[in-house]
Amino acid sequence: MSGRFLADALAVAPPQAPAMLPADLAIVVPAFNEVANIDILVAAIDRALEGVRWEVVIVDDNSPDGTAAHVREVARRDPRVRLLHRYGRRGLSSACVEGIQATTAPVVAVMDADMQHDERILAAMFARIGQGDVDLVVGSRYVEGGGIGDWSKGRAAMSRLATRLATRLTRTPISDPMSGFFMLRRDAFLAALPGLSSVGFKILLDIAASSPKPLRVAEVPYTFRLRQHGESKLDALVLWDYLQLLIDKMIGHLVPVRFVSFAMVGMVGVAVHFAVLTTLYKAFGTSFSKSQVVATLVATSSNFFLNNVLTYRDQRLKGFDLLTGWISFNIVCVIGALANVGVARWLFVHQSYWVLSALAGVAVTTVWNYAMSAVFTWRR
Ligand code: GDD
Ligand code: MN
Repeated sequence: MSGRFLADALAVAPPQAPAMLPADLAIVVPAFNEVANIDILVAAIDRALEGVRWEVVIVDDNSPDGTAAHVREVARRDPRVRLLHRYGRRGLSSACVEGIQATTAPVVAVMDADMQHDERILAAMFARIGQGDVDLVVGSRYVEGGGIGDWSKGRAAMSRLATRLATRLTRTPISDPMSGFFMLRRDAFLAALPGLSSVGFKILLDIAASSPKPLRVAEVPYTFRLRQHGESKLDALVLWDYLQLLIDKMIGHLVPVRFVSFAMVGMVGVAVHFAVLTTLYKAFGTSFSKSQVVATLVATSSNFFLNNVLTYRDQRLKGFDLLTGWISFNIVCVIGALANVGVARWLFVHQSYWVLSALAGVAVTTVWNYAMSAVFTWRR
């Protein structure tokens, strides 16, 4: 570091920085395009946690709006504010996990950046954890005194359905397992860490379902507020992430989460494959192997685009990379397809049941394509 640079950097620091003691509570805040909310959030936390030694870890995924640069500036004035700046990655759950791992505080909270979570209950949550008889305190919208605020009927119904599904599948004793607002003890987090799926946006559900021992839970009511600045990042695609999380939790990490998504896309591919195959083979009377080749090619392209959007959403190929990715995926799949046609034709010749033959070919191809495309197409 040159002397000049250091002098410039120091010029921004306050005359006497307060002596820092390690924080007792860290608030981990996933943030994507939240530049307008950072100052409001930090001021609100400061008011809410008077007398507590806290720090806030803002985890930004290189937001184009300059969230990271702004947090860096704020942190130069207030050392309780910290930045974890990720590059080339996206994902709410993984951002939370890495933020929690980046602090040494014995108690950690997770809270959104957009002020929809009511920071005024942080002190009560911290006090509750301090009693020592619970591992986790959830800010809940579904206990007496809490609420979902001004939600549309559709979103409210969707949230209820997802909540019911989660409770059924993961047996968590939490009224609001979909909440992104909670506080937990470090030891409880560390115990759950090896089992985490870290996929999608339901990190609380993930932690609760990954804990080796059932968590001792308390809930503190709050009302979900309206977002004032910026916009929500959750779109229709998060439903796909949510399905992946539930399946991963149900089958207990049997295969990588990405394979679950890849295989689900593969099933869509099978539908496409059969649509083309039956049209050609049955309706147009094209030979079986020719129909099989065409069906494989069409399904391959549709699989590539779906996987790029769904399975590899966090490292989606764009622009020129999309073209080279599509080419490498096709090369991978041509080899896969040769195996597919080979296996299918061999079976077809030997037992002449065409549906089974085609399915066996598809299964061989799925595993091959997954492994090879992970190495050559979405290689990061
Ligand atoms: N680092 C990072 N990376 N942060 C992200 C990403 C990402 O890919 N996606 C979203 N975030 C941040 C947002 O900036 C915000 O601070 C927080 O995660 C929640 O995202 P919103 O886009 O505001 O989502 P929401 O308001 O629809 O959902 C919230 O409410 C749900 C309850 O229904 C979230 O808190 C959910 O976790 C919560 O379950
Ligand atoms: Mn929000």
